[in-house]
Amino acid sequence: MANLTEQNLTGVVLSRFAEDLNPRFRELMEALIRHLHAFVRETGLTPEEWRMGIDFLTATGHITNENRQEFVLLSDTLGVSAMVDLINHNAHANGATDSSLLGPFYKEGAPERPLGANIAQTPGEPVVVRGKVTATDGTPIAGALLDVWQADPRGFYDIQDPTQPPMNLRGRFHTNAHGEYEFYSVKPKSYPVPHDGPAGVLLRAQGRHPFRPAHIHFILSAPGYHTLTTALYIAGDEYLESDAVFGARDSLVVSPQADRGHGAPADGQLASIQFDFRLAPL
Ligand code: BEZ
Ligand code: FE
Repeated sequence: MANLTEQNLTGVVLSRFAEDLNPRFRELMEALIRHLHAFVRETGLTPEEWRMGIDFLTATGHITNENRQEFVLLSDTLGVSAMVDLINHNAHANGATDSSLLGPFYKEGAPERPLGANIAQTPGEPVVVRGKVTATDGTPIAGALLDVWQADPRGFYDIQDPTQPPMNLRGRFHTNAHGEYEFYSVKPKSYPVPHDGPAGVLLRAQGRHPFRPAHIHFILSAPGYHTLTTALYIAGDEYLESDAVFGARDSLVVSPQADRGHGAPADGQLASIQFDFRLAPL
């Protein structure tokens, strides 16, 4: 029987691992146990506090179902998703457009639309989004796929809101021979991430709000390039500096300008967003 102490327990737990483990699994489990034990020792965690932590994780599991992933929300609001994204994207980015969180509201199978189509089937302030998709060296990428989705001006995605037509504010577009894209939509607004469950309880306990700044999501893909999951954020939004899920980046902020070009309504109420995406070669 080992003489277990605060000092030797971590080593004893690690020594129980079998010899022939997958090396990456061993690395992850060893680091996890070392950091968990260090957390307990550093904070002097009490049995009551540990019980609260277990109850919190249990509640997170109970509210999670196929439509609601509270563990992902927890990861997002604790900055873990952003950290995973930063270390992995930066590994190959080298001049590519910054990435940003996928979030829980992406839906596969958005309709393919011609360039210049409108993805909004519900009202709002009209906006046209246009630009180019290039390689990091500036070469235009013809036929790149842009999968686009956003919330409506009240802050709801179609899959959260039965009053919106299915696939509202979603679309897939291919760039033309010059790598250009263009689509019409409505201006997004800031909205709160779901905060009626354990992740919301934790945000409030930390004195934090649940809002994300207004944004439009994109997944860009093209053969021979790293797929890019990102979003464009609207300049001037009050939550740009305090995004609840740490997705906003300075380099992804765009300023809508008054637009008088092709497709502009006679009342001049069209704003245009211009952004060029750069993809990293594989
Ligand atoms: C989103 O932008 O859709 C989102 C991202 C993370 C958590 C919740 C929502
Ligand atoms: Fe979003």
